[in-house]
Amino acid sequence: MRIFSGIQPTGQKHLGNYIGAIVQYVEGQQRAADAGDVAIFCVVDLHAMTVPWEPDEMRARVYDTAAILLAAGLDPDRCIFIRQSDVHEHTELAWHLGAVTAHGDLNRMHQFKEKSARQRDLVSADLFFYPVLMAADVLAYRANEVPVGDDQRQHVELMRDVAQRFNDRFGEQLVVPELKIPSVGARIMDLQDPTSKMSTTGGSVEGTVYVLDDAKTVEKKFKRAVTDSEDPPRIARDPSKPGVSNLIDILAAARGITPEQVEESLADARGYGDLKIATADAVNALLEPVRERYSALRADEDALEAIFAAGAEKARAITSETLRDVRAATGVGPRT
Ligand code: TYM
Repeated sequence: MRIFSGIQPTGQKHLGNYIGAIVQYVEGQQRAADAGDVAIFCVVDLHAMTVPWEPDEMRARVYDTAAILLAAGLDPDRCIFIRQSDVHEHTELAWHLGAVTAHGDLNRMHQFKEKSARQRDLVSADLFFYPVLMAADVLAYRANEVPVGDDQRQHVELMRDVAQRFNDRFGEQLVVPELKIPSVGARIMDLQDPTSKMSTTGGSVEGTVYVLDDAKTVEKKFKRAVTDSEDPPRIARDPSKPGVSNLIDILAAARGITPEQVEESLADARGYGDLKIATADAVNALLEPVRERYSALRADEDALEAIFAAGAEKARAITSETLRDVRAATGVGPRT
């Protein structure tokens, strides 16, 4: 049971990233170790080059993200924690996989369509190739499981197709990985516009709860969350009630209970205020320890570099074997 997941470098990691992905990473790190295998987590700086970026800020954003993940509970002694650009096999494998990836399939990717529509100056070839590098990230480790939020579903499905196509053409070299999406919280919505997902780029600051927001800000954002005007107010998950449903999901995920248990626990609530306050409290209880640990971790960049260096070495022990097999199978490179 080998697990791989990746996350983009930004200091603006939000509650969607936290509940949809980071909580699963921490759980996966333990599950993989219990099964005698390993989980690999990767800060994907090369993917961050697919939309405009500031070279002066890139490294700082990688440190921000690394410190958030370590503060959340990733332990570099129990998992492999890497910066994508440190392990060159990711980009090399991406080129091999590109040879069996259909241009038309990349053209159909929702995220490519959304992100390319937002670019004013240049839609780069890297943005188009993004899903192939993402496939390489996972396939280089022959990982079995990819924990992500719902928005990455299509990318993981493509990755499975690419692995299958590679194996059909060159023999069983790669593992076709499984998608792992949380049962609650796979798609956390914007608090101000609960029909859109919470996101770093698309949403509003008021509707997005950042992992590093202080407790007061978190409370204010939840108190102002958009609900509905049903009279009397009904605390229930329902497609016609996206705001309330989102709060129920967040509360359930933050407390580690089911949405049904949330609905039962708030059956006597007088209005949506109780739901908003309970959710804000649960989210603060979840994030407070992360915020507390973050500052010390972020302050020591040398220590973060040392963690990445050690992670890259452990990673290469796995990826160099995969690439050796892949090169032999594709006939590229020297005789083995
Ligand atoms: P990124 O950095 O955009 O997001 C990191 C993780 O957060 C999840 N997520 C959400 N989950 C629930 N609700 C939301 N509103 C929400 N918003 C984001 C994402 O699904 C993701 O799991 N392409 C990836 C990074 C990547 C990767 C990989 C992931 C690169 N290589 C290999 C897995 C395996 C991304 O942009 O994540």
